[in-house]
Amino acid sequence: MSIDIAVIPVAGHGTRLLPSTKSQPKEMLPVGRKPVVQYVVEELALNGIRRSMFITGPGKTSIENHFDWDDELISYLRTTGREDQLQDLEYERFDMEYAYTRQRRQLGLGHAVLCAQPFVRNQPFVVALGDSIIGLHAKSNIIQRMIDEYDRSDDIHAVVAFEPVPKEHVTRYGIAKPHGDTADVFELEDLIEKPSVDEAPSNLAVAARYVFSPEIFNALEQTEPGKGGEIQLTDAIRLLLSSGRRGIGIRLSEAERRFDIGNFTSYFHAFTEFALTDPEYGPELRDYVRGLLED
Ligand code: UTP
Repeated sequence: MSIDIAVIPVAGHGTRLLPSTKSQPKEMLPVGRKPVVQYVVEELALNGIRRSMFITGPGKTSIENHFDWDDELISYLRTTGREDQLQDLEYERFDMEYAYTRQRRQLGLGHAVLCAQPFVRNQPFVVALGDSIIGLHAKSNIIQRMIDEYDRSDDIHAVVAFEPVPKEHVTRYGIAKPHGDTADVFELEDLIEKPSVDEAPSNLAVAARYVFSPEIFNALEQTEPGKGGEIQLTDAIRLLLSSGRRGIGIRLSEAERRFDIGNFTSYFHAFTEFALTDPEYGPELRDYVRGLLED
């Protein structure tokens, strides 16, 4: 069965990026020339997804506007002789249907995914976090690889992408406990949230892309709220796994680094790297940065 539905949670407050996120979504912050969430949708389109549901919240309408057709802007560009800029709006023409629903209370990522249930119903689906880009300029086929793994067997209920992180950083992430060795694709035994360096069962951190069977909704409904009353997606995956449902982990390749736009350090890294590798503006920017660093 091929999966063509994705859920994109974008309802979080983004408090770690204040004041930038006070009146605009962090998912709309630019990384290089495009807002974060455009890369996410480009990656989904590249991987055969045709229906995307955004889980939105207060202050997020600019995301909906971004994916609308803008006939007025198109005719303005035409009548003012700026036809070449129309290619910047090419993404409006993706073969993609968009749906939006509100997470009416910000009760965590797991709760945001649960808000998609009336749309997704009884089908398997992808979850792509709206604040994370996979690979430079979103050329990754990780989602297709995850769907292929999911399709391999009827007893798989979760496929989770993981990124190797330096051992001393495991304390920041949900970490895979693999069953057996950690090949590129491995059986997932459990997830350990923010383990100590000594207790970490691997250095593989959850990396913002998931494929689920609809069983995840049952698990989410049974998941007890944790810190701050939030329902954690990781806890629901753990519940699935502990009830005997099979989960698969899949590693991102080196070229598929995760750019997490959740805090200023990683946001600055992402912006710098995307800008420096921009085909048009990158070369001049490299000279500029070199000049700054030599001073
Ligand atoms: P984060 O875990 O980074 O949460 O979200 P956040 O609330 O936006 O960030 P801080 O901690 O306040 O800075 C990861 C993804 O999940 C979405 C976010 O919008 C982001 O794309 N999310 C998170 C929701 O949709 N709903 C939630 O309740 C929490």
